[in-house]
Amino acid sequence: MIRLQQVLPERYTTASETELAERIGTAKDALGDRLLILGHHYQRNEVYDWADATGDSFKLARYAADHPGAEFIVFCGVHFMAESADILTTERQVVILPDLNAGCSMADMADTAQVLDAWDDLADVCGTDRIVPITYMNSSAALKAFVGRHGGAVCTSSNARAVLTWALEDQGAEKVLFFPDQHLGRNTAVELGYALDDCAVWNPHRDYGGLEEREIKAATFLLWRGHCSVHQRFTVEQVEQARAEDPSVSVIVHPECAHEVVRIADHVGSTEVILRTVSESEPGTAWAVGTEIHMVQRLAANNPGKTVASLDPLVCPCSTMFRIDAPHLCWTLESLVEGDVVNRIEVETETAHWARVALQRMLDIT
Ligand code: 13P
Ligand code: SF4
Repeated sequence: MIRLQQVLPERYTTASETELAERIGTAKDALGDRLLILGHHYQRNEVYDWADATGDSFKLARYAADHPGAEFIVFCGVHFMAESADILTTERQVVILPDLNAGCSMADMADTAQVLDAWDDLADVCGTDRIVPITYMNSSAALKAFVGRHGGAVCTSSNARAVLTWALEDQGAEKVLFFPDQHLGRNTAVELGYALDDCAVWNPHRDYGGLEEREIKAATFLLWRGHCSVHQRFTVEQVEQARAEDPSVSVIVHPECAHEVVRIADHVGSTEVILRTVSESEPGTAWAVGTEIHMVQRLAANNPGKTVASLDPLVCPCSTMFRIDAPHLCWTLESLVEGDVVNRIEVETETAHWARVALQRMLDIT
């Protein structure tokens, strides 16, 4: 998805780190309680350190929903997170994304036209009455709205199991159409006791998802062919290598990793679960972590008595999360002090209504 971020004035691009930190602090103080800065765990330290609350995408969505008093919410994360915050907050509140180009390549792997086509194909093959659509939080507001309109819900990496159980048991779904991350869908299906054969991958670039009619009818989980380019890099060989180097190491990975990796990991969880598990572990323990590198580096720095390293010897940053930096945060805050709202993320009313239905179902389930 193309978004247009304006080029920052020179007073931001040429300022030193120290100067930017001073200016961010001054602007934050000037805005006081009117401002809430939210920071996802993948943010750089120069941004993360300014956050009033940090967390995984579920915790941050809930935090935004629970703080109706904040006039400006500066979301240091990616576009879909800021959209969700806008949907869950009041009309009076303004949500800002410091760099408009901070999208999510996985979220961009499913668009509304493709999902509508898939829904039509499914109607053709087996009817959609007993299909519940579930979208991962990493998706556009338009897709969340689609799901809201069709009796489904949003899920995040921390509640996918609860949301899929709700769909299959409480809603009596025969099938779930899960998008855009095939890995989270597959990992959760297996966690719930389903077999890999109960899952079929839906290729949005092919008619009927590239599946035979019998394959569509047989599958309980139709998993969109989407993935995260950061998490798909982690491999079984890396896990084996980490264990060969240190047999005492615990492997902890995000559920966006491929199933072969998740299956042999010691722990699997959202970024918040990874943070908590490593932070609460005994001194002297060793961890090989399968998630974004800024988070892994921060875990290593904050857990000096432990060994914390990335599973991937080659660095794997999330290039879109990385776009939010001190100059963009400074520009955003100084603009607010001057009375100028930049980079507002505002979801159109009808879309916001139905997306809120899907998000609220998730919040009620969990
Ligand atoms: P979390 O909800 O676990 O923070 O994950 C969000 C994400 O984009 C991971 O790649
Ligand atoms: Fe999207 Fe992957 Fe980045 Fe998460 S790590 S925001 S899923 S591209």
